Amino acid sequence: MSVHKKAKRVTTQVLLDMKSRGEKISMLTSYDYSMAKIVDQAGIDIILVGDSASNVMAGHETTLPITLDQMIYHAASVIRAAERSLVVVDLPFGSYQGNSRQALDSAIRIMKESGGHAVKMEGGEEISESITRVLSAGIPVMGHLGLTPQSIYKFGTYVVRAKEGEEAEQLKKDAILLEKLGCFSIVLEKIPAHLAEEVAKSVSIPIIGIGAGGNVDGQVLVAHDMFGITQEFSPRFLRRYADVSTIMNDAVKGYITDVKSGDFPNEEESY
Ligand code: KIV
Repeated sequence: MSVHKKAKRVTTQVLLDMKSRGEKISMLTSYDYSMAKIVDQAGIDIILVGDSASNVMAGHETTLPITLDQMIYHAASVIRAAERSLVVVDLPFGSYQGNSRQALDSAIRIMKESGGHAVKMEGGEEISESITRVLSAGIPVMGHLGLTPQSIYKFGTYVVRAKEGEEAEQLKKDAILLEKLGCFSIVLEKIPAHLAEEVAKSVSIPIIGIGAGGNVDGQVLVAHDMFGITQEFSPRFLRRYADVSTIMNDAVKGYITDVKSGDFPNEEESY
């Protein structure tokens, strides 16, 4: 039986076993109880309470505005639904870049107040001290390299990262460093597929890609994007598995029609 099917609860060790057996890892975002329940019951391995909640839930242009308190609120809602998945929570912008003490305090708040199982932090060498300190408290850390949306104002655009030699070399070094520090996995976002494949082969921890090609250990998407709830975002790497926004739009129109015509509620729907 596959490691995925056998596991009652996905742990960081289960993910390592999956990589070593060549079993791909599935990961999706969720920010609330109802969505997390659907995603968990369908059998996803990892739920990411991503700071993309800043875009998807709150309508901000970037992930920068979301606060630690807001991330804890989202994560606590997801945790109440997740019976089997490993729940990873993003440390939001400004909650860990100050120094390693700040990073530890923020990670502890997430673990204590939301019940999340691990945190994700964007960056490599430049945040190594903070990663080490969070890990030293027994908190599992997932890394995030390549396009790191919390640095969008440094990059200037959301184009593919690490296409050039120097940036690609730094990314490879950072991935090896994150493994050495003790991260249990790394997300690689929007980088060339050949580079992601090379990184996945160079480390024994699982590499989860988003816009990083198919030759990595797993994939992550923003659930609202793959369900077709969000419509304005259509990058090349996104596959839509449903058109939920059309289904919801039709349902709302049907409801409006029935309310206006007096067809809803009928006798059976009344007391
Ligand atoms: O916040 C998020 O949803 C993410 C994924 C895109 C990996 O970090």
